[in-house]
Amino acid sequence: MGKKVTVGAAVIGGAAVCAAAAFIVRCRMQQNSNPVSKSGDIVKELEEHCATPVSKLKQIADAMTVEMHAGLASEGGSKLKMLITYVDNLPTRDEQGVYYALDLGGTNFRVLRVQLAGKSGIEYKEFAEVSIPPQLMVGTPEALFDYIAAELNKFISSESEKFRHPSGRQRELGFTFSFPVLQLSIDSGTLIRWTKGFSIQDMVGRDVVAELTKAMDRQGVDMRVSALVNDTVGTLAGGKYDNKDVAVAVILGTGSNAAYVERAQAIPKWHGPHPKSGEMVINMEWGNFKSSHLPLTEYDNTLDAESLNPGEQIFEKMISGMYLGELLRRVLYRMANEVALFGDTVPPKLKTHFILRTPEMSAMHHDTSPDLNVVGDKLKDILEISNTSLSTRKTVVEICNILATRGARLAAAGILGILKKTGRDSFRDGELPNTVIAMDGGLYEHYSEYRNCLENTLNELVGEKLAKHVKLILSNDGSGIGAALLAACHSQYI
Ligand code: BGC
Repeated sequence: MGKKVTVGAAVIGGAAVCAAAAFIVRCRMQQNSNPVSKSGDIVKELEEHCATPVSKLKQIADAMTVEMHAGLASEGGSKLKMLITYVDNLPTRDEQGVYYALDLGGTNFRVLRVQLAGKSGIEYKEFAEVSIPPQLMVGTPEALFDYIAAELNKFISSESEKFRHPSGRQRELGFTFSFPVLQLSIDSGTLIRWTKGFSIQDMVGRDVVAELTKAMDRQGVDMRVSALVNDTVGTLAGGKYDNKDVAVAVILGTGSNAAYVERAQAIPKWHGPHPKSGEMVINMEWGNFKSSHLPLTEYDNTLDAESLNPGEQIFEKMISGMYLGELLRRVLYRMANEVALFGDTVPPKLKTHFILRTPEMSAMHHDTSPDLNVVGDKLKDILEISNTSLSTRKTVVEICNILATRGARLAAAGILGILKKTGRDSFRDGELPNTVIAMDGGLYEHYSEYRNCLENTLNELVGEKLAKHVKLILSNDGSGIGAALLAACHSQYI
C-alpha cells in the first residue's frame, strides 16, 4: 500500500513536471511574441517606468509632506513613523570629558571614544570597526549583544592615558541603533521592526538599551547607556556641532532615513512637557514612505515580495545601497532569460539574490575606459560571465544609470518634502533661512554619479534662488560622534 502511494505520487510528480515544462515552453513562446522582445525594448521600458520628471518629484515631495503631518498627528497615523527622539537640545560645544559611542546599523559596527574639550571641540578620537558575522544578524538577541559587548570590552581596555577619564566615574555611552525604535525616554526604546537584512524576531518589542545593558553586565563591562539614538539623529547632532545651520540629516547607505528639527508645537502626538528649546528632533523613518506617485516597476515589486520585510520600507528599497545592486541583478536576469543578453544560457550566478552589490554597480557605472573593461571584469569576477560584447557592457551601464538616477532623484524629492514641511522652502520674515543638510552613508559618500544627480536634482527642484540657501555637507562619521555628544549632553554627572 505504502509503495503504491509512493508510485502514485511519483506519477503525479512526473505529470506536474511535464505540465510545468509545457508551461515554461508556453511562457517562452509568449515572451517571444511579446512586443518587449529586444534588449533595447526592455531597457526602454525600464527607463519609462523609472521616469522621474520634475512634476512627479514635486507630487512625491508633497505626498511626503502630507505623510509627515499625519505621522506627527498620531502614533500609527501614517506609514511614516515620525518618531519622537527625546532629543530637544543639540550639542552646544560646552560638552567636556571622555565619552563612548557604539554604532550598530549595518553589516559592521563601530565603537569609538572621544575626548571633548568644550569650545575647542574634539581633542582626540579613536575608533574600531568590527564586522558582524551574518549568522548573528538572524540569530538571538543574546548572541548579538554578547558579541557587541565583548568587542566593546576589548576597546575599553585599550583606552590610553591621553583620554582623561576621571577615576571613580562610570563610563558613558551613546548608542546609535539604526533601526526603527519607539523611544520612551532618551535612554530607552523598544524595537519596532528590523530592516536591512537583520531579522531577530525575539528582539522586536524589547528595549534595546536593556538588552545591551544585560549583555554588558554578562561581559563585565561597567558602562551606562546615557543616550539611545538613531544614526540620523547622531548625524544631526554631529553636524550641528560643526555647523549651526544644520537642521536636517539624511542617511544614504545600506538603508535610508532622515531626521530633522521640528517645532514642539507642530507635534500633536507629543503629550510630554513642552521642551525649553521649543523644539524636538524627529526621526522620520522615511525608508517606509509609500505613495501611489512612486515609480514602482515589476522589479521593485518582486524584490519586495521576496524580501525579509514584504510591504515595508518601499522607499528604502528604491533608493538605498542595500537594494540598488539587487535591482540591477533582477533586470539583467530578465534580459538574460528573455533576450539572451549573455548568450544562449542564463548565467547560473545571476540567479543568486544580492550577488551584485551596490559598490560593484557603482564601479561599473563609473567605468570610463573606452572598452568598459571594469564592467567586463566585474561581470566575469562576480557573475562568471566572460567575453561580453561592448554593446552588452553598454547596456549594463545604461541600466545602472537608470536605477541610480531614479534613486537619487527620489531622495532629492524626499529632501524637498522636509524643506516644505519646515517652511524652509520659502521666505521667512522677508528672508530665506540657510539650511544645511548633514549627509552620511556609503552610497552618498562613494557613489558619485548618485551624489551628483541628487545634488543637481535638488537644485532643479528648489530653483536657483533657494538653492543658494540649501547646502548638503558630508558629515562623515557624524552618527557615532553625534551619539557620543548626546551621551555627554545627557550625562548622569551634569
Ligand atoms: C532604518 C533607519 C536607519 C536607516 C539608515 C533604515 O533601514 O530603518 O532607522 O536610520 O536604515 O541606517
